[in-house]
Amino acid sequence: MPEKIEVSDLSASIRRTLLPIEQANGLANQAYADPALFAFEREHVMARTWTAIAFERELPEPGFALPVDLMGLPLLILRNRAGQLSVFHNVCSHRGMLLVREPGVADGSLRCPYHSWRYDLDGNLRGTPHIGGVGIHQLDDFDCDQHGLKEVRSHIWLGMVFVNLSGEAESFADFIRPLQQRWQVFTNKFEELRTPTNGGTMELEVNCNWKLAVENYCEAYHLPWVHPGLNSYSPLDQHYCIQSDQGMSGQGSGCYRLAEVAGNQLPQFPDWPAAQQQTAEYLSLYPNVLLGVQVDHVFAIILHPLSHDRTLESLQLFYVGDDAVTPSYAENRDNVLQAWREVFAEDIFAVEGMQQGRRSPGFAGGVFSAAMDGPTYHFHRWVAEFYASGLSVSAPGEGTVADRM
Ligand code: FES
Ligand SMILES: [Fe+2]
Repeated sequence: MPEKIEVSDLSASIRRTLLPIEQANGLANQAYADPALFAFEREHVMARTWTAIAFERELPEPGFALPVDLMGLPLLILRNRAGQLSVFHNVCSHRGMLLVREPGVADGSLRCPYHSWRYDLDGNLRGTPHIGGVGIHQLDDFDCDQHGLKEVRSHIWLGMVFVNLSGEAESFADFIRPLQQRWQVFTNKFEELRTPTNGGTMELEVNCNWKLAVENYCEAYHLPWVHPGLNSYSPLDQHYCIQSDQGMSGQGSGCYRLAEVAGNQLPQFPDWPAAQQQTAEYLSLYPNVLLGVQVDHVFAIILHPLSHDRTLESLQLFYVGDDAVTPSYAENRDNVLQAWREVFAEDIFAVEGMQQGRRSPGFAGGVFSAAMDGPTYHFHRWVAEFYASGLSVSAPGEGTVADRM
């Protein structure tokens, strides 16, 4: 167990992360290695923005109930009879029993296993057996409408369920606007995206803090040494950094040739600019979504932080149009999935090695290359702003960061 951190030490380190890139240090080791900061992040980072918790496909039919653990917080996604998704706190309004333990189709309603109070698929309380004594199931002065499941603000985008726990973040439309504007060519074509019945998903559990998965994804700097195969057809000098003022950063490649290399001829986005056939971009949408967009497929990865040093990466592939998910393209799709599986497997030792390195007192957040580490620094700053707000830390040369947010 790491030593308990001192808030004053953390505050000082956060101030150093908020300095300009040339002088900044990265986030302190504690941000990766201290279980106490894992809980802090849920409240002060994840809860205050839009965090992805599941893919829509994980609730395959009406009536489906999916319990989700968001960094220790029990949530419940329900698909009602009309097929709409809502997110609730997964706790019974009576005595606080965890309501749903296993995913599955609810039989018309959800029954609490403790005293059998019953909720419909929109979270309304519908049954309170013996509430007024044996055989008396209703009370005049007990209003079921006041005691339904507590809903969490949610939004579906690109097949993912996002939540804003605080209820106070910007609208989802504002949150996603920068990405929507950058990637109109595909965000305007969501209706054409298809997910294959088989072979379109992948899960990978890595022994690292979720932030290291984001950071590693943001950068192309490690490409020649960690991904020699990928680097052979999409070399480092063809990559560029992407960082906006908003909550996202990443990298782009000017010579995407996976389709060719993997022997693919998959259907392509019809409006993709001809001059950018070989452009592919990889963005981390903070806090926990990694996106990849190519002319013939898109992928999204949700990072599920399991603990301060374990993360589950869950990937979904999307293809363009009905034909792309027919059996005739099965081999092509397998090639795409296999190619990405290899690339992501190559990254495991890097993110796990960085996690191990954060046990060392010889590392205090490290430094950034202004030329190569801009997207990583951008993410550190974004996290540091939330930390600073949660800790009411003054930013260098200004009032408290909380004042500016
Ligand atoms: S705790 Fe759920 S019915 Fe009592
Ligand atoms: Fe990588």
